[in-house]
Amino acid sequence: MKRCLWCRQKAVIYMREHRLALCKNCYPKWFLRTTERTIKDWKMIAPEDKVLVAVSGGKDSLGLWFALAQLGYAADGLYVDLGISADDYSEKSKSYAQQLAERLGRTLHIVSVSEAFGQPVPTLAKASRREPCSACGAVKRYLFNRFAVENGYTVIATGHNLDDEAATMLGNVLRWQLDYLARQAPVLPAKDGLVKRIKPFIRFTEKQVALFTILSRIPYIEQECPYSVDAASLFYKDLLNRIEERSPGTKWSFYAQFQKHLQPLLAERMGEPPLRPCRECGMPTTTEVCAVCRMKAYTRDMVPLD
Ligand code: AMP
Ligand code: FES
Ligand code: ZN
Repeated sequence: MKRCLWCRQKAVIYMREHRLALCKNCYPKWFLRTTERTIKDWKMIAPEDKVLVAVSGGKDSLGLWFALAQLGYAADGLYVDLGISADDYSEKSKSYAQQLAERLGRTLHIVSVSEAFGQPVPTLAKASRREPCSACGAVKRYLFNRFAVENGYTVIATGHNLDDEAATMLGNVLRWQLDYLARQAPVLPAKDGLVKRIKPFIRFTEKQVALFTILSRIPYIEQECPYSVDAASLFYKDLLNRIEERSPGTKWSFYAQFQKHLQPLLAERMGEPPLRPCRECGMPTTTEVCAVCRMKAYTRDMVPLD
């Protein structure tokens, strides 16, 4: 049996990449300390910032909201109701977000896609012939930003973890999608109507975040989104886990060394497409009409939901 390196109690986790075993009392302390260090190292949050956490009801974003509260950051939550009725997915995930809001005594804002655009995500996706996940991603990014701008939030925090980011990066590297790679970073600074975006959990694997959320006694939605058949990203995560198994620490160095050495060069070299206000809604976009307004246009003749 492994023992906690800090207090010699029975360990609940051994992190090979850090050669560190910790018990159920010490692990959350290590986790919070590491989160704080990530926030400081990457200059994610300044004292005057007003932070909005995008909470989906899953383990990552609920864990993030809780961790930020424990660290003394007065962050509010934003839940985007995607209107996914299969398996009661949206209703269930919303109720987990509401439970944590109550426990923290903090505000959870709720924005409904059906109310904002007349139709839920599955209908918007179908009408515009996009994959649900791609339509969903565009709608979420749009609503996070619009809500933050309209309500004076200066930072949007999401629960992306190392597994998410390394898998996305691997996909982009395999195709050498340099424009995507140039924009993949733990901090995307504010610019031209886009609010600053941060990912304070990039230092943790999916399992490490899950353990923190469970030890913090936060119930979360375990079921995957019924549309999330993003087989490629699951496959890349599995591949990276197998590499990590053979050579602990690889996942982090793959991600971090890219961030340290290559991302800044790429960002400078690629330049960024200029942003301008969308002709329809005024939100920043690189095209004349933004992706969300284009999707909305496909559903113009449909009967709005009540
Ligand atoms: P995903 O793209 O589903 O892996 O989610 C990545 C991050 O986006 C989560 O950790 C949340 O911070 C945020 N997020 C995803 N879905 C929602 C939602 N419906 N409402 C608010 N935030 C969300
Ligand atoms: Fe967006 Fe599943 S969460 S399509
Ligand atoms: Zn628009």
